[in-house]
Amino acid sequence: MGLFEKIQETASFIQQQMTVKPKVGIILGSGLGGLIDNIETPLEINYSLIPNFPVSTVKGHGGKLVFGRLGGQDVMLMAGRFHYYEGYSMEEVTFPVRVMKMLGVETLILSNAAGGTNAGFNVGDIMIIKDHINLFPEHPLRGHNDERLGTRFPDMSQPYDHALIDLAKTISAETGINIRTGVYIGLQGPTYETPAEYKMLHTMGGDAVGMSTVPETIVARHGGMRVFAVSVITDMGITDVPVTITHEEVLEAANAAAPKMAKLVATLISRM
Ligand code: HPA
Repeated sequence: MGLFEKIQETASFIQQQMTVKPKVGIILGSGLGGLIDNIETPLEINYSLIPNFPVSTVKGHGGKLVFGRLGGQDVMLMAGRFHYYEGYSMEEVTFPVRVMKMLGVETLILSNAAGGTNAGFNVGDIMIIKDHINLFPEHPLRGHNDERLGTRFPDMSQPYDHALIDLAKTISAETGINIRTGVYIGLQGPTYETPAEYKMLHTMGGDAVGMSTVPETIVARHGGMRVFAVSVITDMGITDVPVTITHEEVLEAANAAAPKMAKLVATLISRM
């Protein structure tokens, strides 16, 4: 079965259970699952039940799709994403984005936990991603291009939708939720970066670094979706004294900032 047929099969399975027709899709990053509590009338489908969905590498953390309402709109949400460092192929990492597109999702909202490479940032900051640098070792669009999914050489002049970024800035001014905007650099991980790498990433023009989001954005843009993405800064590696970064601290900082991020995203959706 080709990729297109696999996407069709998965989409039609999901369609049979869907009671809403979401135009907005959300992918939640590490520690940011709290947003699910804001979903009204949720319907959940475990990834393990969905044909062609990648099989989770972590027992008990299989992840799920959630359908429901947020900010007055129908949404579909992925709680748990597939990371390249887990060993998934780029096709697997981005497969759910393809499925969302086929189900009618027009706007993709991505979130992640990220390390700050901008010395002016603080742990707990919310950064709206205005652009990215792709440092993954493999491109999600490498290989045969199916024109039904998108063009061979996609434009990347506006990976993140300017209108949505402006709207987020307006909401920030009105609500007092502080936001930064910046450039996200996507790396494969799973190691956090060395002090020298942090310095390099900063010099390259990065404000934050993480192990996700970039492949999903590329595939969403390939499919013609508009993208809004937000990082929660969970640690600051860009200091004179090397700081130890642990996954526990990353999750803790993400959890602490999750309500702020949830409010921003819900308000954004209500005004889209
Ligand atoms: N690098 C550094 N810090 C981080 C990351 C990362 O990929 N993700 C969350 N905090």
